[in-house]
Amino acid sequence: MAQEASERPRGTATSGRDLVLDSVVKRFTDFTAVDDVSLTIPAGSFFALLGPSGCGKTTTLRMIAGLEQPTSGTISIGGEDVTRLAPHQRQVNTVFQSYALFPHMSVLDNVAFGLRRRRVSGTQEKAKAALDMVELGHLGARRPFQLSGGQQQRVALARALVNRPAVLLLDEPLGALDMKLRRQMQVELKAIQTDVGLTFIHVTHDQEEAMTMADTVAVMNKGRVEQLGPPRELYELPKTAFVANFLGKSNLMQGSVQEDLGGMIGVDVAGVRVLVPKDRATTHSGRVVAGVRPEKMRILEASDPVPDGVNQLLGDVVDASFTGISTEYLVDAPGVGLVGTFSQNLGQKPAAPGDKVRLVWDPEYTFGLAGDEDAAEGVDAV
Ligand SMILES: Nc1ncnc2c1ncn2[C@@H]1O[C@H](COP(=O)(O)OP(=O)(O)OP(=O)(O)O)[C@@H](O)[C@H]1O
Ligand SMILES: [Mg+2]
Repeated sequence: MAQEASERPRGTATSGRDLVLDSVVKRFTDFTAVDDVSLTIPAGSFFALLGPSGCGKTTTLRMIAGLEQPTSGTISIGGEDVTRLAPHQRQVNTVFQSYALFPHMSVLDNVAFGLRRRRVSGTQEKAKAALDMVELGHLGARRPFQLSGGQQQRVALARALVNRPAVLLLDEPLGALDMKLRRQMQVELKAIQTDVGLTFIHVTHDQEEAMTMADTVAVMNKGRVEQLGPPRELYELPKTAFVANFLGKSNLMQGSVQEDLGGMIGVDVAGVRVLVPKDRATTHSGRVVAGVRPEKMRILEASDPVPDGVNQLLGDVVDASFTGISTEYLVDAPGVGLVGTFSQNLGQKPAAPGDKVRLVWDPEYTFGLAGDEDAAEGVDAV
């Protein structure tokens, strides 16, 4: 089934360059690396392909670039079927994790290389403008080895941007940078994309990077797109255990539906009734996995009065770790298992291991997944 990355109606100014993958499959001898992926990526959007190692991100990107042929399915840009076109015939450029700059050329010549080869007029000025865009105009005379990793990465970006591709593919472009530079480059990349208005497809296995940068995130797992949407929507309303666990953390509880309460279902979780809004549940009967994000829970003393209308679990604190801003707790809830939560350090008395506590949360934050979902799926994926 095709998944639309945006509700933007067709026929608006930029839709002519939408990138569409239709039922794309890539099989390597006996292994299916990309398994029936259909996507529409609106022109001008910042799109992230997020998933653990080996899930098929690079293979998908290489097929878009024309470096790999799909086993079946089609790829089109702006309505033109490009599936069988050579890489240079597509309006696509790629920035890889290794910058692959020419060591014997100046920085400016590196950026001008593609234009010069295509005999574009005004090569020097265009290359200079692209270098200015990544704030390296003053270093054009240097050789790549005289630049830092982050600067080389920006040269690679300028070298791709100067060609004004319809689609820019970025395969873990920040992977070689240290954490501080990486965060800084995330902000800069996002600003450049907003500035130039090109479609960026950014491949990463860093969920924070995907969420901070992209308008739309596609979460990939085992060659398939599990869920696609704006970062906040994916985070607040995961549809599978893999997405719930890979994108942030979740507490997932096995249960079965006991009651239909109109807008809510009442789920029996180890003898406790947990309410789940129907519009946040993928199934309304039988076995179901109820989920809630750790930060949505509050931790109370077991003897405290129970607020009205909340979902609640009783348990024993097994671990409390102070992290400065907050204290993270692991609570053993009988019949449910370990539940994680944290509370902001506002001066309240922290709970300690051995304490009996009550975890409460607003039912509106609960989500419901299919009963056969494996609650551990994606927990350790990297
Ligand atoms: N040429 C090939 N021949 C056989 N198998 C391949 C080939 N290229 C990739 N694969 C396999 O396809 C799967 C997907 O690979 P891909 O490089 O797309 O993963 P990825 O999501 O980019 O992972 P990473 O985050 O580690 O870069 C992997 O299991 C990989 O071993
Ligand atoms: Mg890869």
